[in-house]
Amino acid sequence: MKSRRLFLLAALSTLLILFPALMPARAPAQSASTPKPFDLIAWNGGQFVYGVDYYPEAWDESQWEKDAEMMQAAGINFVRMAEFAWAKMEPTEGRYDFAWLDGALKVLNAHGIKAVLGTPSASPPAWLMAKYPDIAAMNDQGVRYRYGSRRNYCMNNPHFLAAVQGIVTAMAEHYKNHPGVLGWQIDNELGGPDCYDSLCQAAFQKWCRTKYGSLDAVNKAWGTIFWGHTYSAWSQIPLPWNTLYGVHNPSLELDYHRYFSDATRDFLVMQADILRRIAPGKAITHNEMGMFDNIDYSHLNTALDFVAWDNYPMIDHNLTRNFTHYEDSGLGHDLMRGSKNQQSFVVMEEEGGLPGWNTFWGHQAPPEMYRLWAYQAIAHGADGVCYFRWRTSRYGTEQYWQGVLDQDSYPNARYGIVKQTGDEVKRLKGVLAGTQPVSQVALLVSPDARWAFHIQPLVNGFDYNEQLHRYYDSLRRHGANVDVVFPQGDLSSYKIVIAPSLFVFTPEVVRELTDFADGGGALVLTYRSGVKDEHNVFTDETLPGPLAKLAGVAIHDYDPQIDPASQQQEIVMTGGQRYPAKVWFDILTPATAEALATYGKGYYTGSAAVTRNNMGKGSVYYVGTEPDSPAFYDGLLAGILQGAGIAPGPTPPEGVEIATREGSGRTVLFLLNYTASKQSVGVGQGYRDALSGASTSGSAELPEFGVKVLVK
Ligand code: GLA
Repeated sequence: MKSRRLFLLAALSTLLILFPALMPARAPAQSASTPKPFDLIAWNGGQFVYGVDYYPEAWDESQWEKDAEMMQAAGINFVRMAEFAWAKMEPTEGRYDFAWLDGALKVLNAHGIKAVLGTPSASPPAWLMAKYPDIAAMNDQGVRYRYGSRRNYCMNNPHFLAAVQGIVTAMAEHYKNHPGVLGWQIDNELGGPDCYDSLCQAAFQKWCRTKYGSLDAVNKAWGTIFWGHTYSAWSQIPLPWNTLYGVHNPSLELDYHRYFSDATRDFLVMQADILRRIAPGKAITHNEMGMFDNIDYSHLNTALDFVAWDNYPMIDHNLTRNFTHYEDSGLGHDLMRGSKNQQSFVVMEEEGGLPGWNTFWGHQAPPEMYRLWAYQAIAHGADGVCYFRWRTSRYGTEQYWQGVLDQDSYPNARYGIVKQTGDEVKRLKGVLAGTQPVSQVALLVSPDARWAFHIQPLVNGFDYNEQLHRYYDSLRRHGANVDVVFPQGDLSSYKIVIAPSLFVFTPEVVRELTDFADGGGALVLTYRSGVKDEHNVFTDETLPGPLAKLAGVAIHDYDPQIDPASQQQEIVMTGGQRYPAKVWFDILTPATAEALATYGKGYYTGSAAVTRNNMGKGSVYYVGTEPDSPAFYDGLLAGILQGAGIAPGPTPPEGVEIATREGSGRTVLFLLNYTASKQSVGVGQGYRDALSGASTSGSAELPEFGVKVLVK
């Protein structure tokens, strides 16, 4: 049997290289079989999904019972396991051994703890890569990686795909009827490495052929006439490797990003199809990475039953020891919720201790923060929080990446906090069930724009995510919930849409935004919008291109901030306020719009910098630069919120986050104090404390690093 399979594989590999068109058309994306929206609490037996990432394979079996007891005592009812245990589950090719995992499940299930099992494709066994070294990905210099670490594979390699299908099939067959296995996490943090070998080049060429149909079409779309790049055969189309003298065509590169995102989704769907065929009804998810932008999560997640992601607030190396940067993880939660139509999600890896890798550390946080971060996830729509990891590893790269427990299993302060939180979420289940964040404001994130800015970064100071935060953080300071939406999402339920630097446009997005404004919405566009068409080709319309009518401005000149020291700029509001501005300066010529601010320096002093245009029943703002002052955004958005009739929640003091979930006739108000000081927040009448049951007197007193959950 094995020799036959080997022969087939060898033949298939040869054919795939010689005749890429023979590359098997990947299984069509199967829509999730589970009806939407996915009810996580019902899925977990009527309990909030509260858990830890557990690695029984790394600990003596004699510790499992004690682990399960301590987990149960802390209110844990869920674990994720096995995502890196391929070598343990398939110690030699084709021989599968699940006895150890069955044993761990038996102990855990006896303590009321169920599991999601990871398909282990993120960590191919050494024996597999020794047999097939070409499973390792090839870097952009044409060098194939050697065995080691993880996430090291080429996802188009037939030997790898066959081996993944084997282990996934074996897991599905073994656990399809296991009552203690709730579902599957496919792979782990998909999104790399990019592989530049001949199989991936063939796959990209096939993707292009499928998209464009003819070489004429792809040459036209990419403008390959430039520098005489015209292709006369599909096999000539390169990957954006780094072994060329110069740079690639930006249209090719944007399509490569789209290909890579699609190919990653196909890889996930290949596994999901096996799991759904053999073990129907067990949920399928994947643990994602929030603001990570290699993948279009809004596309990937159509293949999942629910979204999961990994949240590490203290991992940001640049993060000062300032715990009040709650907007970073807040936006991550909202983007993940938005990547699957605002459905509730699970934080599959919630920071459970000090992040430490082999060469860098994150910041340690007071134990109370681990409760705050769990509540922040819940406040932003999570119905599941799973701490990474149960116990810090004694081995390998993550010996310094703290779990809830340290290597000594001592019930430390973090364990006490996890236990307190576990007790509380049990008591809150009736309050949370049937509620979700409700937002009237949407922040539009464009995967195409993010990729295009990676290909042709504007200027050194430009940071797409930082610009998102300019608007997001201000809305949160106003106490307003925010939904993140992706292009081609439904905007009709929103009153305000903010679409920062919509650099790449499609006719559909332009129509969507026009309908939104026409219908009475308030749309905020910002600099470098409407510049490139869907092929990353510069528009030949006066900027902002097809958005010009919406914005009511023309841009006949612009000024990149190449050297902040010598190019200092400011904007002057019509009311006289002056704000520093940075990064980019679109010099606006109002057509039908009115100027709200002008530039205060340079040859274009007095030219419009910020405008407002009446459009249909709505209004369109164009912010032609990046004002470098929170007060600008607070002022602009206060007016827009008021104009939209949105009375945001109580305005929180600095370092206090406010968020709400609504539904089932309830409003649940979360007050989260990220400061080391007591805080008082005015909340209005009618609330009661969901944990203590006490009625509130119109204001809530928060202890340092404290949490209040109020309900009415
Ligand atoms: C990622 C991975 C985990 C672990 C953590 C901590 O989130 O999914 O396996 O490596 O980082 O490093």
